[in-house]
Amino acid sequence: MNTKAYYLPLQMKKLRLRELGNYGILPKLPAVGGNEGVGQVVAVGSSVTGVKPGDWVIPANAGLGTWRTEAVFSKESLIRVPNDIPLQSAATLGVNPCTAYRMLMDFEQLRPGDSVIQNASNSGVGQAVIQIAAALGLRTINVVRDRPDIQKLTDRLKKMGAEHVITEEELRKHEMKNFFKDVPRPRLALNCVGGKSSTELLRHLAPGGTMVTYGGMAKQPVIASVSLFIFKDVKLRGFWLSQWKKDHSPEQFQGLILTLCDLIRQGQLMAPICSELPLQDYQRALETAMQPFVSSKQILTMG
Ligand SMILES: NC(=O)c1ccc[n+]([C@@H]2O[C@H](COP(=O)([O-])OP(=O)(O)OC[C@H]3O[C@@H](n4cnc5c(N)ncnc54)[C@H](OP(=O)(O)O)[C@@H]3O)[C@@H](O)[C@H]2O)c1
Repeated sequence: MNTKAYYLPLQMKKLRLRELGNYGILPKLPAVGGNEGVGQVVAVGSSVTGVKPGDWVIPANAGLGTWRTEAVFSKESLIRVPNDIPLQSAATLGVNPCTAYRMLMDFEQLRPGDSVIQNASNSGVGQAVIQIAAALGLRTINVVRDRPDIQKLTDRLKKMGAEHVITEEELRKHEMKNFFKDVPRPRLALNCVGGKSSTELLRHLAPGGTMVTYGGMAKQPVIASVSLFIFKDVKLRGFWLSQWKKDHSPEQFQGLILTLCDLIRQGQLMAPICSELPLQDYQRALETAMQPFVSSKQILTMG
């Protein structure tokens, strides 16, 4: 049974050109881009239940192709989201906050006061990690790339709930030993980058701790020293939301979405910083999204 959906804002994920060819799912070409976004249902087939015109919907899985004004989809390919949350939150809810939440919950049993370390902390996922961790009473050590306006970024992430914001360079310094006199060593590290950055995260992990890799922005392998395995028994794991969805029911995904909506309503989870552009400016949005140090999601809007 088909549902016709009119997509309002379409969130543009970075088109990771360099990743084409090695991502876990590749669309059959020609294809419509866009994995995220929120739309409004304008009509449903006569036997469709559970969604009605006016409802907000997001893609149930990656690869739906959200960069379009309207489309006809099966009910199963969409998930209903409450429409009492901000539109930008709905448009950016289905991937990054879900990933952040699952990584914080599924790998280590963390208690309030425990700390978590992550790199690319200003990414969409990173910003969600900061806010969800703060809501859970966890302390975050947030690693970012240095930039001319580092103080501005630090202030912004701290306002979201980040306890510490440090640069990749600072993380490599000897003084980090003193840092961990006041802050508990993290039992969980979240790696979006790979390469040297991930080696540094691992170096600061507590014995027996876990590093979860979910992104590879540096396009370099994760390298861990032999001693880390022998003397610290660290665990290296990976996370992919698409796989999580395959391993769980649509109801469990819906439950995750509703949990995140509660955090949004309580003011504990906001959308990442966003810049809105009309759909016809997609090329400008794409170019901006590919620049380093942007820290802002490019959102395509229409209607
Ligand atoms: N496994 C999963 O299920 C899953 C789910 C969601 C996202 N992801 C992946 O997670 C990553 C982030 O996604 P997002 O939407 O949160 O991204 P985003 O908001 O576009 O942010 C990208 C981040 O990567 C950083 N970065 C880029 N190149 C880098 C490099 N060479 N070294 C260090 N940092 C670098 C950027 O830092 P600057 O500000 O310094 O440029 C920024 O913090 C992507 O690879 C995405 O595919 C995976």
